[in-house]
Amino acid sequence: MSDVAVAPGRPLTLGGYQVWPPVVLAPMAGITNVGFRRLCREQGGGIYVCEMITTRALVERNPKTLHMIAFGDDEKPRSLQLYGTDPEITAAAVRIIVERDLADHIDLNFGCPVPKVTRRGGGAALPWRRRLFARLVRAAVDAAAPAGVPVTVKMRKGIDDDHLTYVEAGLAAQEAGVAAVALHGRTAAQRYSGTADWDAIATLKQALDVPVLGNGDIWEADDALRMVAHTGVDGVVVGRGCLGRPWLFADLEAAFDGRSERRLPTLGEVSVTMRRHAELLVDQFVAAARNPTRGERDGCADFRKHVAWYLKGFPVGGELRRSLAMIESLAQLDDLLGKLDPTEPFPVTALGQPRGRTNSPGKVFLPDGWLASRDDDAVPEGAEMDDSGG
Ligand SMILES: Cc1cc2nc3c(=O)[nH]c(=O)nc-3n(C[C@H](O)[C@H](O)[C@H](O)COP(=O)(O)O)c2cc1C
Repeated sequence: MSDVAVAPGRPLTLGGYQVWPPVVLAPMAGITNVGFRRLCREQGGGIYVCEMITTRALVERNPKTLHMIAFGDDEKPRSLQLYGTDPEITAAAVRIIVERDLADHIDLNFGCPVPKVTRRGGGAALPWRRRLFARLVRAAVDAAAPAGVPVTVKMRKGIDDDHLTYVEAGLAAQEAGVAAVALHGRTAAQRYSGTADWDAIATLKQALDVPVLGNGDIWEADDALRMVAHTGVDGVVVGRGCLGRPWLFADLEAAFDGRSERRLPTLGEVSVTMRRHAELLVDQFVAAARNPTRGERDGCADFRKHVAWYLKGFPVGGELRRSLAMIESLAQLDDLLGKLDPTEPFPVTALGQPRGRTNSPGKVFLPDGWLASRDDDAVPEGAEMDDSGG
């Protein structure tokens, strides 16, 4: 049951789309593929963003990347995240998306904190180069505009506490014509450690006229209501909280509708969701491989990473957990799920707890001279990743 009261909110306006509830599934590389998104969409409304695609891979028509751009027939808007560092390549990638009608919404990723990306000036390092950032965002917006495809940006607070960029970058993105700005309330240096700074999200909301989306540490539906109450944001972006708990989207819809019920599935209900998830991944991989045997094996392999999240807090023995995390077929999965006690109640101790990545803060590796040259708008060399995900 909810303990947070909320006034009925407004739908999130994203270009020509009205989204209710104002909830976005955060793009997560290796997670938010078409199967996972369908599983989540079956629970509630919102926008469900595809895994990140790199602009270079798209422009080079990398077959693996093209397979990653897969949407359900009923997915609307089809939301795709792009990673790029070069305005021209980004514009070319957006033109491909628009001309081939591959998506209805494009989100630009400026939040990636991994060293191999920031060391070359990409991801969370890029907004520091304010002219390059503005040029890149404008290139994407201009290329998407003829088709009426809204472009949004997703970013962090900055490189570290001494090099914050989010207000300036938000204003620049607004000026460039984005439909919304999402802020993950951490710096790149924080990675996934500590707690997200919702005050920064409130500051950005105050500064911008376009819709602002808040991101970071929404573990339960009531956290989303709290974030809206605290910051005034137009919508929330939910990542790790839904890992092993796609029903969080049902709770979020209930919460924004002003209903107080929340899901606490028994282990039997969780195992039905696990089976559904695995089946959707198998369907996805069979479609991609056009080979049922290989597709089932690859789908099951992709499912394995989710097992520990689904079982978090449930009293399930190590051996059964390990076997579930090694499945190669749906028949094997059925057999193992049959060994779980379906009456086991949901472990309420797992509620409100971080899940997924929670790593410690770290030094942000940057190209030489990066911090001393904010107005240099040269495209950083080698910062375009050539594969997608990451
Ligand atoms: C496994 C994983 C993969 C991620 N991949 C991406 C990505 O490709 N693009 C992106 O913008 N953010 C990515 N993120 C960051 C999330 O979108 C989100 O900003 C972050 O997890 C904070 O939100 P949360 O506290 O709700 O999880 C990823 C996060 C995780 C845990």
